[in-house]
Amino acid sequence: MVNPEESKRISASDDLEVGTYLSIAQKLSKNESKSKLDKDKLFQPGILIVDFGSQYSRLIARRIRELNTYCEIVNSKSNLNDITSIDIKGIILSGGPSSIYQKNSPKIPDWIFGLNLPILGICYGMQALSFQLGGKVSESSKREYGYSTITVSKKHKILEGLKNNIPVWMSHGDKIIKLPPGFKSYAFSENSQNSVIANDSNYIGIQFHPEVTHTPQGKLIIDNFISICDCPKNWIPKSVVEHSIKNIREQVGDSKVICALSGGVDSSVVAILLDKAIGKKLTCIFVDNGLMRKEEPERIRKVFEGKFGLNLKFINASKTFISALKGVTDPEEKRKIIGREFVSVFEEHSSKLGNVEFLAQGTLYPDVIESKTSDMSTSDKIKTHHNVGGLPENMKMRLIEPLKFMFKDEVRLAGLELKLDKEIINRQPFPGPGLAIRIIGEVTSEKLRILKNVDWIVMNEIKKNDVYNELWQSFAVLTNTQTVGVMGDQRTYNYVVALRCVQSEDAMTADWARLPYDLLGDISTRIVNEVPEINRVVYDITSKPPGTIEWE
Ligand code: XMP
Repeated sequence: MVNPEESKRISASDDLEVGTYLSIAQKLSKNESKSKLDKDKLFQPGILIVDFGSQYSRLIARRIRELNTYCEIVNSKSNLNDITSIDIKGIILSGGPSSIYQKNSPKIPDWIFGLNLPILGICYGMQALSFQLGGKVSESSKREYGYSTITVSKKHKILEGLKNNIPVWMSHGDKIIKLPPGFKSYAFSENSQNSVIANDSNYIGIQFHPEVTHTPQGKLIIDNFISICDCPKNWIPKSVVEHSIKNIREQVGDSKVICALSGGVDSSVVAILLDKAIGKKLTCIFVDNGLMRKEEPERIRKVFEGKFGLNLKFINASKTFISALKGVTDPEEKRKIIGREFVSVFEEHSSKLGNVEFLAQGTLYPDVIESKTSDMSTSDKIKTHHNVGGLPENMKMRLIEPLKFMFKDEVRLAGLELKLDKEIINRQPFPGPGLAIRIIGEVTSEKLRILKNVDWIVMNEIKKNDVYNELWQSFAVLTNTQTVGVMGDQRTYNYVVALRCVQSEDAMTADWARLPYDLLGDISTRIVNEVPEINRVVYDITSKPPGTIEWE
């Protein structure tokens, strides 16, 4: 269970609502007793992944979930008491950067052996398993890194359905030189006699990484392990949704809940799940800050009030936001002001609702992992994405986080199951501070009007040419630079617009999109022809790093 206080950063791929509301949650949780927050009702049969600091632990989780099996990641220092939401059917020990014979290297906690369940140790996990059960691990004279082939010497259930020579991905410097008592070797590589080992208790070790795509049949190996564990494969969108609805009902009882709806996929799925679970006990608050795309607030209102009939409070606060931004040019200052204003509008309207006990927010599983597995935490904060103001200390609400066991693509699948419009499900991320951080310099109503018109054309062309879903984000930035141009024999002195289109997996890194020149040309021509305040369009060809996706 995530403790938002611990969650120092959240993944940049989240939609606006996660970022903004995480900071609210951080404030709220100061008033919370931890035990209240820790009461998870979800109790799913699944595989527990014990993380030893591997960069691939999340991939293991992804693969298991792709096989419709529930799983959770915990770090190697967790206690069994900390694990309240999974009915463990088997354990995977991840890889990791340490050497097991080093002092202070992470070890498999004793309680894991006490469970008497199948264990699959991957790379470091295998070495830890061997070492702790009486085998011998030593530094290999030759590091095995990259593609390799293992040869099967004896049949084992973990290798069922695979040929005798299996292409695999290795990344290790240590190897097992003496097997622990009761273990046998089932496959070897050029470099090691013990690429796959196992004993009769279904403790299995594999020296390679089945979770990476470079091990082409790795998913089958993971699937074999799920079968060995006799773990049900019931993590499918329908049951995920049903489970969440049931949990929400149990958690909320007769209380009231508020949910800040932004129209991003996370808050939309949260809102609809809650609506299905508790109906009119839910109030959604949508704050129109005037910094959204053209017609976006109206579209959101139509979908959620119209199609879904949500209990929605639609607040037009654009004047408040725009006047608060008057004269402000510093990007960080803009972000802080927007956050502060959001919180104050949200607080004003939520306090009018009377006795609300819960605040719903769209925390996702990667955020939970981030806060649980310290080894995985990375990167300094480059921009104040999410630290936006905070609610007063005396505001007492408990948190409800229906997505906290889901990855983003699972949220999307849940959205489909809930009949959420595909446009919302597949929407490109849009930052919390909205167009304010795409206008360089002071944000004015006039500049917002110009950028909304430009953005409309960009979106229109990107969608018309079927590239929308291939891009992580595609948008325009209104620079503060004016240049000389000529139109119809007349000199012009107008603004430069920059196009920013990127491809990315998770927004942590991104590459500028190689869009066809003709498409870029069409976008440029339309902008200059249809938006009189613009006479020049440039294309941003900077990747992240060294650039960031947004300009501010
Ligand atoms: P950067 O510009 O840091 O952006 O490369 C990474 C991703 O985060 C989005 N972004 C934000 N999202 N609140 C958000 O919810 C913010 O303040 C914020 N700033 C940037 C950005 O659009 C990109 O997807």
